Amino acid sequence: MDEERIVSARMSGEEIQEEGSLRPQRLAEFIGQNKLKEKLFIYIKAALERGEPLDHVLLHGPPGLGKTTLALIIAREMEVNIKVTSGPAIERPGDLAALLTALSPGDILFIDEIHRLQRSVEEILYPAMEDFALDIIIGKGPSARTLRLDISPFTLIGATTRAGLISSPLRDRFGIIERVEFYDEAALSEIITRSASLLGIGVEAAGATKLALASRGTPRIANRLLKRVRDYAQVRAEGVIDPVVAGAALEMLDIDHIGLDRTDYLLLHTIIQKFSGGPVGIDTLSAAINEDANTIEELYEPYLMKIGFLKRTTRGRVVTDRVYEHLKIGNSNYRQQTIGDNNQGELF
Ligand SMILES: Nc1ncnc2c1ncn2[C@@H]1O[C@H](COP(=O)(O)OP(=O)(O)OP(=O)(O)O)[C@@H](O)[C@H]1O
Ligand SMILES: [Mg+2]
Repeated sequence: MDEERIVSARMSGEEIQEEGSLRPQRLAEFIGQNKLKEKLFIYIKAALERGEPLDHVLLHGPPGLGKTTLALIIAREMEVNIKVTSGPAIERPGDLAALLTALSPGDILFIDEIHRLQRSVEEILYPAMEDFALDIIIGKGPSARTLRLDISPFTLIGATTRAGLISSPLRDRFGIIERVEFYDEAALSEIITRSASLLGIGVEAAGATKLALASRGTPRIANRLLKRVRDYAQVRAEGVIDPVVAGAALEMLDIDHIGLDRTDYLLLHTIIQKFSGGPVGIDTLSAAINEDANTIEELYEPYLMKIGFLKRTTRGRVVTDRVYEHLKIGNSNYRQQTIGDNNQGELF
């Protein structure tokens, strides 16, 4: 279901290649996240002045907010090589050992989805991060012994959408742990304007604002909306994205003015209709809307919580009064309303 969502923060196949061209290359070009940028600027400058590798960095936060982009920027600012891999791609401890021994002094190893590292692989990382060493076990049984191999001093950058799933021994070995936040409307407008000029798309300021509001605080979604709305502008209007064109295109895409799509509506309506507004446990909810619990937690909930539509309590998920306002339904009379067979009700 997620693959078809325009407002999914996850990357689609086509975007893997395209994203490169829109990625800011330097810290100064990176829009928004000002506090984080300032901290990284200082850490990078200090490390450069000392001639040391940067401390290990863990970047966490919802998908599409710029974690990979920042890792690439850090490498460029530190003027070092970066090797990119991901938790699931490293199958055996030996795979990671091979990556680590191939690093030159100061290099960066970027492990995306680091929460998905296997335990046996993760254990290789501990001495590597702490002492720049690999502990190799030779032989088996009583005659087994450990051989310590030195590796080049390096920087590990880990990225994860699920910080809670990282084991504490691993987390404790990162000197810099930073959360990447959702972007505000002004930053997203700027990102849209920048991307539009890189792609040669005409967009008016008010048009950019309209798209920014529907981007769920996420640059990846902002860029995706921009491209889809461009198509609309080209075929149905004069090619320039003004607020009217942006609004009409969003409507065609079934995305409301704050970026909610049918799946969000289904989720919210289900909690209200079937579970009296909550609390409802994630697994129950997952079964009710036929969507993977991880996907709900990683993709749908962060933004709904950010805009104050959903709360996580110890007993489960609860919708807030804002949802009733947004859906224009009374809190108490809602249950008397009928909802269509597909359970999505009157969405837009
Ligand atoms: N601060 C920014 N300024 C401009 N563009 C940005 C910014 N952050 C992200 N982008 C754009 O959004 C896209 C997605 O960013 P990125 O791939 O770094 O996200 P991510 O956090 O690594 O996502 P995931 O969790 O899915 O790996 C980038 O290709 C880039 O074009
Ligand atoms: Mg990434």
